[in-house]
Amino acid sequence: MEWFPLADRVGAEVRGVDLATVAGAALDDLKALVWDKGVAVLRDQTLTPEDHIALANRWGGIDINNYFPLEGEHPEIAIVGKTPEQTTNIGGGWHTDHSYDQVPAMGSILVARTLPPKGGDTLFIHMGEAYDSLDDGTKAEIEGLSAFHTADHIYSPDGVYAQTDQGATLRGQDLKTGAVHPLVVRHPRTGRRLLYVNPSFTLNTVGRSRADSLPLLQRLWAHAMREELQGRVEWRDGTVAIWDNRTTWHYAMNDYHGHAREMHRITLTGEALAA
Ligand code: SIN
Repeated sequence: MEWFPLADRVGAEVRGVDLATVAGAALDDLKALVWDKGVAVLRDQTLTPEDHIALANRWGGIDINNYFPLEGEHPEIAIVGKTPEQTTNIGGGWHTDHSYDQVPAMGSILVARTLPPKGGDTLFIHMGEAYDSLDDGTKAEIEGLSAFHTADHIYSPDGVYAQTDQGATLRGQDLKTGAVHPLVVRHPRTGRRLLYVNPSFTLNTVGRSRADSLPLLQRLWAHAMREELQGRVEWRDGTVAIWDNRTTWHYAMNDYHGHAREMHRITLTGEALAA
């Protein structure tokens, strides 16, 4: 396996790996790269849905997403889609998947199936770089704090998506979610400290109301969103991205109105997080 930086602070472009067959030591190397750099981009892949599922099982297992439409014959695969008629996309805000679960998903394997002629990139931020670049005062301020994460305000019948043209195809509107995680977690495999709050699912710090939590949370989010911490995945036919939800945030650009975009996503099983 060879790899090159995707951007200065996040991500890797990987060459010399066939995802349909990768296993053993080569798969371990790829996992270690994803844990460290946050996202790996692999080009010219030819994954069938069955290959996609088999890769996720070799990686360590599948967490079926409770909200997105599922691919008919392959319910392990969630469809992240936007039709030419829709104006709202899925994932068009900075977030990390499934932080509302007490054992959040490790990451995702996203396969491009239908792409717009241009646009529809996905942006990533490395949350280890975001933590490391905080000033010492802020690091001391957040040490020992935890935060509450939920998806209910996003997916419930009166939530964010229900007000949009994505609402009709989503599932799970009646589910109730909630999890508490430290603001700074240690990556379970690399031990690196990571800022683990995100603008989509983190509502408040434990012991404080939403209003009292927002000044600190918004300061942390603004710090993490700085452009120098970001990397951009430009999709082409045959592109697959594999990312780590603990190490990164991501953001799906919604700049291709009038065109279809369909991605197949499998969410990978993770582990409990600790400070
Ligand atoms: C997601 O948020 O998982 C979707 C990312 C994308 O469609 O680029």
